[in-house]
Amino acid sequence: MTTASPPLETSSTPWTKAHILDAASLTADEIMQVMAEAQTFAEILKRPVKKVPVLRGKVIINMFYENSTRTRTSFELAGKYLSADTINFGVSTSSVKKGETLIDTAETLLAMGADAVVIRHSSSGVCHQLANYFGGRVSVLNAGDGFHAHPSQALLDLFSMLQRIDTVKGKKITIVGDILHSRVARSNVHVLSKLGADVHVVGPATLIPVGFDQLGCTVHTQLAPALEGADVVMCLRLQLERQKSGLIPSLAEYSQLYGINRERLMQYTSPNVLLMHPGPMNRGVEITSDVADDPDFSLITHQVANGVSVRMALLHLVLGTHTQKGDELYETIA
Ligand code: CP
Repeated sequence: MTTASPPLETSSTPWTKAHILDAASLTADEIMQVMAEAQTFAEILKRPVKKVPVLRGKVIINMFYENSTRTRTSFELAGKYLSADTINFGVSTSSVKKGETLIDTAETLLAMGADAVVIRHSSSGVCHQLANYFGGRVSVLNAGDGFHAHPSQALLDLFSMLQRIDTVKGKKITIVGDILHSRVARSNVHVLSKLGADVHVVGPATLIPVGFDQLGCTVHTQLAPALEGADVVMCLRLQLERQKSGLIPSLAEYSQLYGINRERLMQYTSPNVLLMHPGPMNRGVEITSDVADDPDFSLITHQVANGVSVRMALLHLVLGTHTQKGDELYETIA
C-alpha cells in the first residue's frame, strides 16, 4: 500500500491553546498545525530509537473514568516517547471510590506537579468544567467525554485519511451508525467540515439527533444514498446496550440495513474507497471482517498506529513547545 504524506508546512500563526477540549473550537489552521506536527512525530517513530527529549521534566496524568484500550495506551506512549513522566491514575483503586470529587482529585494530582491531565469521562462537558476551574495551571486534554467530543480521535482519523489522499476538501465522507451517542461522529463532523469535506451521516432515525445537519453535514436514514460515490466510509461501533433500550429492533436487522460489507462497498462507493472504524469493532454487526481486515482499503490499523503520533503532537503543542522550522526537533527530521 502506498501512502501520501500530509503537508509538513507549519502555520505562521503561533499555537495558543493550552487545552484540547473539543473539535468544534479548533480552527482549520490549528487542525493543519496538528497534522504537520503529527507528521514530524510519525517520521520520528519510524526510527529505531523513538524517544525525543522535548517534554523532559513534564508530568502527564491519564485520568480514565471509562474503559479504553487505544486512547489511554496511545496517550501514555505519546507522553513516554516525548520523555515526559506519564502516570496512569487508577480510578478503580483511587479515593474516587470513597467519594472524592473530580475537582478534588484533579487538585490533588496538580499539587503533586502535573502539567497536563488527559481525561476520559462519561459526563459530557467535564473537560470544559475542569479547564474553566484550573485555567492556565494545567493543560486539559479531552480523551472522550460522554456523547460530546473525542477530538484526538477525529484528528487521528483525519491524519489517517491524509496518508492516502492529498486533501479531504470536496471528498464525500460518510459516517455510518449510532450518531446519537457518538462523540467520534460529532468531532469528525466538526474537523472534516472545517476542511471543506462533504460529510454525510447515516443511521436509523432513532440514532440520529434532531438538528444534527446544523453541524455541517447531510443526514440520511437510508444507506444507499449515503454510500453513493463515497470516498471514505467510517463505521461507528453499535453500542450493544442500545438494543435493550429499544432504539433498534434487533442486531440482525441493524446489520441488514446498515452493516458495511464488501458487496455494499463495491455496489455504491468510489472504487478507491477508504474504510475506517474508531474501534472497538463489533465484527459481523456494523462491519464484516473481510472488509475490516482488507489492507487495500481498510485504514483501521493505521488509525490505531497514528493515534500515537497525533497525541504526541497534541501534548507537544499544548505544553508550549510546538515545532517550527529552525527548532531543534524540526531539524532532527529535516
Ligand atoms: N476509539 C477509542 O476511543 O477507543 P478506546 O475506547 O479503546 O480508547
